[in-house]
Amino acid sequence: MPNSPPRPLALVTGASSGIGAAFAERLAREGYDLILVARRRDRLEAAAARLSREFSAGVEVVAADLTDAAALAQIEARLADDERLGLLVNNAGFGGYRPFVEIDPKVADDLVAVHVRAATRLARAALPGMMGRGRGGIINIASLLALSGAMPPNPLPYRAVYAGAKAFLLAFTEALAGEVVHAGVRVQACLPGLVATEYHAVAGRDPSKMPPMMSAADVVAASLAALASGEVVCVPGLEDVSLLDRLSELRRAILLAANTPVLAPRYRAR
Ligand SMILES: NC(=O)c1ccc[n+]([C@@H]2O[C@H](COP(=O)([O-])OP(=O)(O)OC[C@H]3O[C@@H](n4cnc5c(N)ncnc54)[C@H](OP(=O)(O)O)[C@@H]3O)[C@@H](O)[C@H]2O)c1
Repeated sequence: MPNSPPRPLALVTGASSGIGAAFAERLAREGYDLILVARRRDRLEAAAARLSREFSAGVEVVAADLTDAAALAQIEARLADDERLGLLVNNAGFGGYRPFVEIDPKVADDLVAVHVRAATRLARAALPGMMGRGRGGIINIASLLALSGAMPPNPLPYRAVYAGAKAFLLAFTEALAGEVVHAGVRVQACLPGLVATEYHAVAGRDPSKMPPMMSAADVVAASLAALASGEVVCVPGLEDVSLLDRLSELRRAILLAANTPVLAPRYRAR
């Protein structure tokens, strides 16, 4: 009897609740083994037990705080090592919503550490192996708020650091996609709107006062369908996808029109 091929492996950060937990469930169902990362070990172990029972998935639990440089280095080493790694989902995150001049500097730092540093470092660790094998995918969970910089707070949250971090993930992913696509690796930035998870309670909002929200399972369905079809930017709630093309065209037009040695007239000394 020939051995059956090994199950591919996915690493999901922020797998103890919400979108990350929904990724873990869907990927286990699709035949992946998993490495689940978050701080709450009890949640991860409960998920691991259930997913291995229901889907025969091999599940490894890594209880780690992604703001911790030493913990992050251990996960990087674990990722870089594994030939089976097929998918990395950089999903862990939190809102930290607060007017910028009131935000605890440590919270600002943690926002950057989780959304920007951890996602960048894990992608850096995963990609050489994926590119060498000629296959793999990275999903970076950004947010519609990545596009929100120019909009004032109220009713949107006070979010300068969060929106900046998510905008980083969007630009990072788009630029990276162009570097790796020829090696058979796909990267995606996923931009959900409001999603029904613990996120809002963690951000200090009353969940009962939230408007209707998309399910985490639908976000995951959109993201995996987009990965399969090669969409670099996945906006689960956007029906008219030509809006994304127009946004890209506008950004490109500005870049081409403005990259000149000549100062724009409005800035010339009078
Ligand atoms: N919910 C929304 O409306 C919405 C909309 C757009 C984008 N997003 C993004 O979606 C992603 C997932 O959020 P969610 O809605 O699923 O919220 P959630 O249910 O609160 O899940 C957040 C996950 O991130 C983990 N996490 C947070 N800080 C961490 C840290 N320092 N180290 C390791 N893990 C950490 C949490 O686990 P532990 O607490 O156990 O560590 C949890 O598993 C986030 O990046 C968020 O910004 C959410």
